[in-house]
Amino acid sequence: MDKIIVEGGRPLEGEVRISGAKNAALPILMSSLLTDGLNTYTNVPHLKDIESTKSLLARLGASVETEGETVRIDASGFDNPEAPYDLVRKMRASVLVLGPLVARLKKAKVSLPGGCAIGARPINLHLKGLSLLGATIDIQHGYVEATADQLKGAEINFDTPTVTGTENLMMAAALADGVTVLRNSAREPEVVTLANVLNQMGADIQGAGTAVITIRGVPALKPVSCTIIPDRIEAGTFMVAAAMTGGKITLTDCQPDHLGALVDKLTLAGADIRIQPGRITVTGSDDIRSVDVRTQPYPGFPTDMQAQFMVLMSIAGGSSIITESIFENRFIHVSELRRLGADIKVSGNTAVVRGVSQLSAAPVMATDLRASASLILAGLVARGKTEVNRVYHLDRGYQAIEKKFADLGAAIRRVRG
Ligand code: EPU
Repeated sequence: MDKIIVEGGRPLEGEVRISGAKNAALPILMSSLLTDGLNTYTNVPHLKDIESTKSLLARLGASVETEGETVRIDASGFDNPEAPYDLVRKMRASVLVLGPLVARLKKAKVSLPGGCAIGARPINLHLKGLSLLGATIDIQHGYVEATADQLKGAEINFDTPTVTGTENLMMAAALADGVTVLRNSAREPEVVTLANVLNQMGADIQGAGTAVITIRGVPALKPVSCTIIPDRIEAGTFMVAAAMTGGKITLTDCQPDHLGALVDKLTLAGADIRIQPGRITVTGSDDIRSVDVRTQPYPGFPTDMQAQFMVLMSIAGGSSIITESIFENRFIHVSELRRLGADIKVSGNTAVVRGVSQLSAAPVMATDLRASASLILAGLVARGKTEVNRVYHLDRGYQAIEKKFADLGAAIRRVRG
């Protein structure tokens, strides 16, 4: 398996282009199942999770073509309702085919995703919503089987906001008979961009970006051409890198409006942040201040930035309290960061991080995407050569991360294994 070697101690300088958002691209590519005809998606990042999505769509019977960062998908006449275990286990977000399959084929057989390193991650709210839309749900041999002659609009209250749950039900309700109201919906930018794409396809969705989304079902949707929004978590990861290394990085092709909570926290931590349309410049300071953080659904501080922010706090001048309120087990990076000399104590969903003056390099690995990114960040400031193993996880969600960091002046390379 590949590993990445980072030698710490260089301030990062220069510009980095932010790629298309993984978590926006995944549901949008899945939404191609909702229509016959050729859809064209641009700014699709080169990631393992995108490859898994394309394999799944092809397995279901869609034709998929890729040219650079453009993906064309035509699901005309696709007829396979089964998302098998061998594909779903590689990527939990495969569950996003459930809504489109029931809406289009009247039936779906999708392997249950199971837990992952960061938590149990149930899909009960996806299933409850589909059943309120009139689907019959049966769980057999590790598969969810859902059937419905015609989905019917319904009132659905999410117990807790769920990003992919909101997306799945928006896609299903787009072709339902009648009006669906989703309450306590996720308000993430990825939900809003999916709603915009569905509306471009002829759906009638209002309120995305607020807690209440109203979907008036239509009989059919038409193909679309659209561009994937910039990845706010990739952007945030580079912003933390600038803040940590005392460097100056300008992010281009990014969406500053999506990064408000992180901008606030980084500013409190001492970084200087300049915002222009589509660009953010972050200048780090020698004097990193400790800041408390609690992860929350958007527009709160994103759980997907918690591990990276913790690394910054591990070299801050003071103690900070980091509370993870979305996933029950999202501190898997802590034991690896401790190996690099970080002083972090965890109690339940709270971590107390006491800043140390210097981290020191060691071999590390993590079993989660964002945790792995945090280890690269730690390596950028640790004394010596940090070896980050299981790069597979990084490749799921960061396009050419080592090349982007190398172009900014980091001593970083991939060793193929
Ligand atoms: N939840 C339930 N039941 C459900 C669905 C969710 O209890 O049916 C709970 C979860 O266990 C969690 C909370 O609701 O405690 C929120 O989870 P959510 O459903 O919003 O997460 P998700 O949709 O599975 C997406 C992203 C994650 C990101 C979370 C939170 C995609 C493909 N994935 O996951 O991204 O952390 O929202 O923002 O959009 C990543 O990119 O590294 C990643 C993990």
